[in-house]
Amino acid sequence: QKVKNMTFKEGQEFKVRIKPDGDSDSFAINIGHDPENIAMHFNPRFDCNGETNTIVFNSLSGGHWGDEHREGNFPFVRGEECKFHINFNNEQFYIKLPDGSMMNFPNRLGDVKYKYFNVSGAARIVGIKIK
Ligand code: GAL
Repeated sequence: QKVKNMTFKEGQEFKVRIKPDGDSDSFAINIGHDPENIAMHFNPRFDCNGETNTIVFNSLSGGHWGDEHREGNFPFVRGEECKFHINFNNEQFYIKLPDGSMMNFPNRLGDVKYKYFNVSGAARIVGIKIK
């Protein structure tokens, strides 16, 4: 699910509500320039590639994945809507999870404006707001 006509700039607050499918294996929020250049790939894995209840972060540059970051905190339940607050600057992305905890991921592409936003995998977008 690609969201069209969206510009996400440094300092803005982006809120997204997502409902993972009842049998979701994994889903991802992708923010970047295009499908080959993703500054933040945020990928909660319920059960995927032999991994359970893990968040994987990565970036994709020119179609090549960087080093993965993994997080053990996993405040998601299949079939239950979850809410994320995301903001960023040229150095970091800051993500507030549904349980209120915060995570960061480096902004490896280093840009301050991104126009590509997509949610992939077994989930659907319920709502989006940018302020
Ligand atoms: C791969 C997976 C991609 C992406 C990437 C992140 O194994 O196929 O969808 O999640 O890991 O490093």
